[in-house]
Amino acid sequence: MKSKIILILLAGLSGILFNSCKTQEPMDQKVEKLLSQLTLEEKVSLIHGNTYFTTPAIPRLGIPALHLSDGPCGIREENAPDSWNSANWKNDSTAYFPALTSLAATWNPELATEFGNAYGEEAVVRGKDIMLAPGLNIHRTPLNGRNWEYMSEDPFLTARMAVPYIKAAQAKGISVCAKHYALNNQEQDRGTINVEASERALREIYLPAFEASVKEGEVLSVMGAYNKFRGKFACQNPYLLQDILKGEWGFRGLVMSDWGAVHNTMEAATSGLDLEMFPIDGKGNNYYMGQPLLDSIKAGKLDAKVVDDKVRRILYVMVKLNIIGKSEPDTTGMAAHLGTPEHAKTALKIAEESVILLKNSQVLPLNLKTIKTLAVIGDNATRKHAHGGGSTIIKAKYEITPLQGLQQKLGNSVKINFAQGYDISKDLKTVNQALITEAVKTAASADAVILFGGLNHEPGLDDEGTDKPDMKLPYGQNELIKAVIKANPNTVVVMLAGSPVEMGDWLSDVKGLLYNSYLGMETGTALAEVLTGDVNPSGKLTYTLPVKLEDSPSYVLGEYPGKNGTVNYNDDLLVGYRYFDTKNVKPMFAFGFGLSYTVFSYDNLKIETSGKAESLTITLTFDIKNTGNVKGKEIAEVYVRDLESSLPRPFKELKGFAKVDLKVGESKSVKIKLNQRAFQYYNPEKKQWVLEHGKFEILVGSSSDNTRLKQQIEL
Ligand code: BGC
Repeated sequence: MKSKIILILLAGLSGILFNSCKTQEPMDQKVEKLLSQLTLEEKVSLIHGNTYFTTPAIPRLGIPALHLSDGPCGIREENAPDSWNSANWKNDSTAYFPALTSLAATWNPELATEFGNAYGEEAVVRGKDIMLAPGLNIHRTPLNGRNWEYMSEDPFLTARMAVPYIKAAQAKGISVCAKHYALNNQEQDRGTINVEASERALREIYLPAFEASVKEGEVLSVMGAYNKFRGKFACQNPYLLQDILKGEWGFRGLVMSDWGAVHNTMEAATSGLDLEMFPIDGKGNNYYMGQPLLDSIKAGKLDAKVVDDKVRRILYVMVKLNIIGKSEPDTTGMAAHLGTPEHAKTALKIAEESVILLKNSQVLPLNLKTIKTLAVIGDNATRKHAHGGGSTIIKAKYEITPLQGLQQKLGNSVKINFAQGYDISKDLKTVNQALITEAVKTAASADAVILFGGLNHEPGLDDEGTDKPDMKLPYGQNELIKAVIKANPNTVVVMLAGSPVEMGDWLSDVKGLLYNSYLGMETGTALAEVLTGDVNPSGKLTYTLPVKLEDSPSYVLGEYPGKNGTVNYNDDLLVGYRYFDTKNVKPMFAFGFGLSYTVFSYDNLKIETSGKAESLTITLTFDIKNTGNVKGKEIAEVYVRDLESSLPRPFKELKGFAKVDLKVGESKSVKIKLNQRAFQYYNPEKKQWVLEHGKFEILVGSSSDNTRLKQQIEL
């Protein structure tokens, strides 16, 4: 019997608009009343920080301080007020959730909701009002040091995972903060680089996740980026902030700067920025939107009204959070509510569903009947990743490493021998031959080998502030992996990396390959479950893995990292799979790819069209069957191809997906609805999204390069 699931993943941006509040609602009256009671000096004090992560309170009116905190993987350890040092609290260890790349790799919006719930609860316990996440930038180049903090190369997937995360976290009574708005797609020169991108690339690739966060997620805060866009810093950019964010999208919340991303008083004051964070000189009370702004108003150079709009938005967020009149949060006793078993369970669930199986020549799951000795090799088998990466730093309640995970899972039934394999204490290119020799010996005497390699959060890898120098595996890992495979062909490589690395040197020789981003506090547990087959892997790639850096669109079509202070996005719409598809370049592993321990068949695609324009609905139904021997989850991906566009479009684009849980032999009917946005492109002349009539092809695939079902429709 077929059971029926209904999964509706709207391609468009329907939902209740954030700006639908009428101006005379009590909340607005409350804001206006408070605003009218503030002196100009008080207003100016509210539009910048007073410590690294707070704004000042105005006790006479019950206006509280805002407590801000990083970051995307959990609540950052408490920061000292006036430095980047830790405050050295003893009770602020928290849950460490998987990186957003991992969350997105689950392709499961329900898990984004669970993430948001747990994350929001921890933020409340820590007394935070605004959490500085999610990061919604697009993976444009494989080299970006912060790709692992962002979800994907695809705007649709990013938007679909961001919206439930935002809604769930904010429902707990905090604001999250969509960052870094916009076009912060590289760390190199991030504070000075000017991005030139076409209007279509802006609207179709780089903004949709922010747009959905505002219109559907009703996000209360947005963080401006460090870089410039079309010559103006993102935090001083009226086109991005006023015209698009606040104008077109009707954003009513507050826009804060990234830390130190403001450069000029007049430009910041008049461009739509509401809150400047981080003092000019890194200390004291010195802000562009502080004394210099007050002086400009007093000198008649600036209308005092510009401050009103900023304060109005800050008060609006406070009223929404219901914190007016509230005293400082009481955080005594919080330790018991942080990193709880429930939150750890959420972290584990996400980690398990995010594991991506890229290759399996009958080596996985591990055959525990025949394996008596297991070699575990690689620095990442024992490395903890919570306390690294830049502003995402987490003081984790605990972090189970891959080695610990396997030890816990296998107990005494299998003898585990560990060898470090590579050394991360030297530079990225140093090969430690002694460690390789030792690893080879350990591998040769084992029945099977699991080699944990990849990247980490050391400078120059998956880390804030710099990009990776290349796409190569660091620390001589290629040499290590080749030598280990030679010593024992029964080898599985498990990559922990938040961005692509080249694997061509050994890929054809390795029997098994898992690719994961950073998996949080239960890393080892999740990996052990998958390696032993108690969890069937069901993650899929959220970005393309190119064979080599020189194949990637930002390299071929350029530019990256830019020339003379400007990076031209000549790759335009051809970011990620849009490039590989359109230009027919074969990647190592395609966007959306991921294997399972079982096999799925697709059948019976039916497409129905109803309504027009705003109410246009294309309903796809098709069957997926588990034809293998174990239960598993499959992600079906829906791509739309415009066959008759008058403007060039990428070969196809992701516009829907559904994750289906299937028992052995079970078949389910999947329903996915697309609305008009799934077929539209942005017309820069008309300055709007347009639907051109004509033929479209709907492709249903198990990855971007494996179409299982397709049909043409005419709109
Ligand atoms: C990062 C932001 C972060 C902020 C505060 C900046 O350097 O770009 O993502 O939220 O610091 O730590």
